[in-house]
Amino acid sequence: MKTSIYHHLESIDSTQAFARANRSSFDPKAFTVITSKEQTKGRGRLSRSWYSPKGTNLYTTYSFTLPKLEHSLNPLTLVLALSISEVLQKLGLTVQIKWPNDLYIHSKKISGILAEVEACAEGSQVYLGFGLNINMTANELQTQKFKATSLLMETGKKWSLQVLSSAIENAFKRDLSIFIEKGFSPFHKPFEELSFFQSKVVKLDLGNEVIAGNYKGVNEEGALILELPDSQVKAFLSGEVIGWE
Ligand code: BTN
Repeated sequence: MKTSIYHHLESIDSTQAFARANRSSFDPKAFTVITSKEQTKGRGRLSRSWYSPKGTNLYTTYSFTLPKLEHSLNPLTLVLALSISEVLQKLGLTVQIKWPNDLYIHSKKISGILAEVEACAEGSQVYLGFGLNINMTANELQTQKFKATSLLMETGKKWSLQVLSSAIENAFKRDLSIFIEKGFSPFHKPFEELSFFQSKVVKLDLGNEVIAGNYKGVNEEGALILELPDSQVKAFLSGEVIGWE
């Protein structure tokens, strides 16, 4: 796997925005890791913001290029979710992955992933960002609009951001090599074992309509498969999950 190059920032609007703005100065052969102690304009999916207080959590973007591959890059968020899950599981935690980009513990969000991909000379330029709540306290978590948790809340102790950051990077670089060679297949079963939606009915907002269906897994492209009330089975690559039961 490519050599890592690090940019550890004190403060930035968004590690994702920093990566995009500085990409031309990055070595396209390297795996560039951007972390910041805080983000003043952390970005989530669907134009949401990502609360990024100073020194308490991990805010990271991986910037790397990929050659043209036979398989879809969509499942990259699921692959990173699995790499982060593995690290958290080693701490004794029970983690679930909520398609397409969230990690949950005890039905509360602990991590969110944001993938941005663009075409480039080498093939694809990927900016894969994640926020992982580590030492955030109950008071800070209460400021969130959704139910959120942190490693501190789940384990009762504080964790080193650096140790976890390295562990996640190592796990992801290993998984990325496997993904480049084999696509999503080796990750399919591990993903379904951790899938938050197992045996659930999922409500999906498609923009022009809202549908609900029984969760049937994800496919090799990372699309969500639902069985609709008329028994049709359909795959959805995008859409926002707005409910489940
Ligand atoms: C989501 O759950 O909507 C995705 C959140 C992604 C947040 C991370 S924090 C590091 C990187 N920089 C950003 O501005 N966003 C991502």
